[in-house]
Amino acid sequence: MSELIEVRVPDIGDYADVPVIDVYVAVGDAIAADGALATLESDKATMDIPAPVAGIVREVLLKVGDRVAQGARVALIEAAAPAQAAPAASADAAITAAPVATSMAATAPAPATAASSSAVSTSSSPAAVTAQVSGSGPQAFVSSAATAIAPPPVEAAAAPVATHASPSVRKLARELGVDLTRVPASGPKGRILADDVTAWVKSALQAPAAAETGSPAPAAGGAGLTLAPWPQVDFAKYGPVDSVPLSRIKKMSGANLARNWVMIPAVTYHEDADITALEEFRQQINRENAKGNIKLTLLAFLIKSSVAALQRFPELNSSLDGDALILKKYYHIGFAADTPHGLVVPVIRDAGGKSLAELASEAGALADKARAGKLAPAEMSGASFTISSLGGIGGTAFSPIVNAPEVAILGVNKAAMKPVWNGETFEPRLTLPLSLSADHRVVDGALATRFLAHLAGLLADLRRLLL
Ligand code: COA
Repeated sequence: MSELIEVRVPDIGDYADVPVIDVYVAVGDAIAADGALATLESDKATMDIPAPVAGIVREVLLKVGDRVAQGARVALIEAAAPAQAAPAASADAAITAAPVATSMAATAPAPATAASSSAVSTSSSPAAVTAQVSGSGPQAFVSSAATAIAPPPVEAAAAPVATHASPSVRKLARELGVDLTRVPASGPKGRILADDVTAWVKSALQAPAAAETGSPAPAAGGAGLTLAPWPQVDFAKYGPVDSVPLSRIKKMSGANLARNWVMIPAVTYHEDADITALEEFRQQINRENAKGNIKLTLLAFLIKSSVAALQRFPELNSSLDGDALILKKYYHIGFAADTPHGLVVPVIRDAGGKSLAELASEAGALADKARAGKLAPAEMSGASFTISSLGGIGGTAFSPIVNAPEVAILGVNKAAMKPVWNGETFEPRLTLPLSLSADHRVVDGALATRFLAHLAGLLADLRRLLL
């Protein structure tokens, strides 16, 4: 019978309570020796936990968000072949994964030399493994010490290049889908900096294909972008200018927006909602509570009605995951908030279970916190649908950018009195412009229009929320 190997968190120094930020395997997955099972990230370092042997994952014993220390159980792997020379190997052996060292280590080799210096040892002696390359994980790391089983030989050509970058840079790269092994490093000792990652993304987006010919050839296999280079203009030639650095929020959201704009085939649909009755009701409740602390905002009605519409059309509350659609049974609604530092998106959790007053007060508190720059990351994550309301400012329509990995976003502009024909005469009706951008891979035009029409119906007659 094959051995069942218990993989545990290796010696990770003095760290305890280290968050698990990624788990790459599920029960039943085949894993190569040295393939990454999970990634831990402390405030100073990121490290992969590799599979010490090739085999089938029989149990996954941690999950994203867990906090672990040395010795914590990671997974049970049924070894494909008998494990090599584990110390005191037994039928069911517990193995501490060879630590795949911290990416912050000042002694880590520069990427340029890592491939050659990271030869995988085939020795079975625990002490013999001095450098190791992660085979299938998202990143490669170089270890300074190792225990337990050495991985099998890896073809030199297939060995990924070890990278040297801080956890925040790795996080940025993960968010942008950048393979760090392809990013040229400009930091000391070959370290990849955040600017290197953004420069790489920029150059990938601007990659000129046959630019000189003026007619870019399609990329091989239809993949990739064949964009003309970004115009390089010396603006000072034309008049006085100031150069102001972008805020941190703008830089980060800019990268995400560019990715979402380029990667998501989104279409924007428009609809008018008659909110005459809603607005009368809102004003009436606010008058009644003028001395209290309840102030119903239009945003609260939009959130409440959106949740009801999402419940009716669940595809709009989903995410694409390869060939699968993840339909979320929770309704966490993000809303764009304009702050002096840039756009942020706080998230109201489980919005469906909250009253209008609760939604209004929570959105107000989150918007205040956003403007003060005090939102915690957890307060900006996990949204299943987003609303971007420009209604307090103006506008008649716009095309919001879908906030990946969500598939739809609702844009709202300023309500205005409009003459609406009732069959006999024109009636003044307070009309709210809605703009829904949706990922066409998931939401086609008919579905998007049904969703919007349903949402407009709910806003026009709030009694429908009770149905
Ligand atoms: N039509 C007409 N009036 C509107 C309206 C609309 N669609 N939406 C809001 N208003 C009114 C409000 O009722 C309020 O008036 P009141 O005090 O009489 O009630 C006034 O405009 C100010 O509203 P606002 O400050 O916008 O509050 P809000 O609760 O509606 O919105 C935020 C809160 C956080 C969404 C909003 O302040 C914000 O930051 N919006 C910008 C979002 C953004 O930048 N999106 C673009 C992304 S590309």
